[in-house]
Amino acid sequence: MSTTSAQPAPARAPIGARAAISAKTLRTDRWWIEPVYTVVGLSAWLLWGIIHTVFIRNYYFIEGSGFHYLTPFFSPCVSNACVPAAAEFGTFVPASWPLVPFALLSLPFLLLFRLTCYYYRRAYYRSYWLSPPACAVPDGHKTYTGETRFPLIMQNLHRYAFYMAVLVSLVNTWDAVRSFWGTDGFGFGLGNILLVGNVVMLWAYTVSCHSCRHLIGGRLKHFSRHPLRYKAWGVVSRLNAYHKQLAWITLGTLTLVDLYVLALSAHWFSDLRFFN
Ligand code: FES
Repeated sequence: MSTTSAQPAPARAPIGARAAISAKTLRTDRWWIEPVYTVVGLSAWLLWGIIHTVFIRNYYFIEGSGFHYLTPFFSPCVSNACVPAAAEFGTFVPASWPLVPFALLSLPFLLLFRLTCYYYRRAYYRSYWLSPPACAVPDGHKTYTGETRFPLIMQNLHRYAFYMAVLVSLVNTWDAVRSFWGTDGFGFGLGNILLVGNVVMLWAYTVSCHSCRHLIGGRLKHFSRHPLRYKAWGVVSRLNAYHKQLAWITLGTLTLVDLYVLALSAHWFSDLRFFN
């Protein structure tokens, strides 16, 4: 049995033109959730970072028998105002500079690293700029120029920010190792676990960077001739699949360590000690 239809075929939009749909989007799911939590999460983290590094400058370091805790937000501590025990990389920033963070050597580069990160770019373009806020939702702007002109062309600096972030991660690694030795030799406490956990996550985020992946496996014509690089590229690629998650996890671990060291140095409570 054959079926026929007398209805005319719907008119097709010219190639390249948007379909004639009056609704702003046909999406019925809660597509706005992700932009909202991105704005809330990133804004809260930035706000806390500014408040602590600029306005609460007395609580960033504590040392005792078997521990030496410096928050990553103040590391390396290079201001003249740093406690001498915390300033292991020298002090050359005058304490009189009012709004300059104690960690002038690291914070600006870390900020640049995260601002130019491929994941964060996607996140803040969507959530702050609404460009576009989600897939299949119209852009919040009439024109789109991509990253072809100033200031967004500066996003190409990402690979250089990656090199700096590696150096900062080395400093953070030193802080984590150093945290086990206090005024009375070796010790082990909850603060050490937090600092080490944070630095492991920071390395995972840093090496899962797209620039790192390209550095290790990019421009190779034959993986078979570079077995070690191929292996490393495989590991980095697997981590790279979790780059977004690592971006958020590290914001959390950084804040957790920072709050913990702040609480200890403000004497709200004592470190939970397992040894010494
Ligand atoms: S740190 Fe995210 S892409 Fe490089």
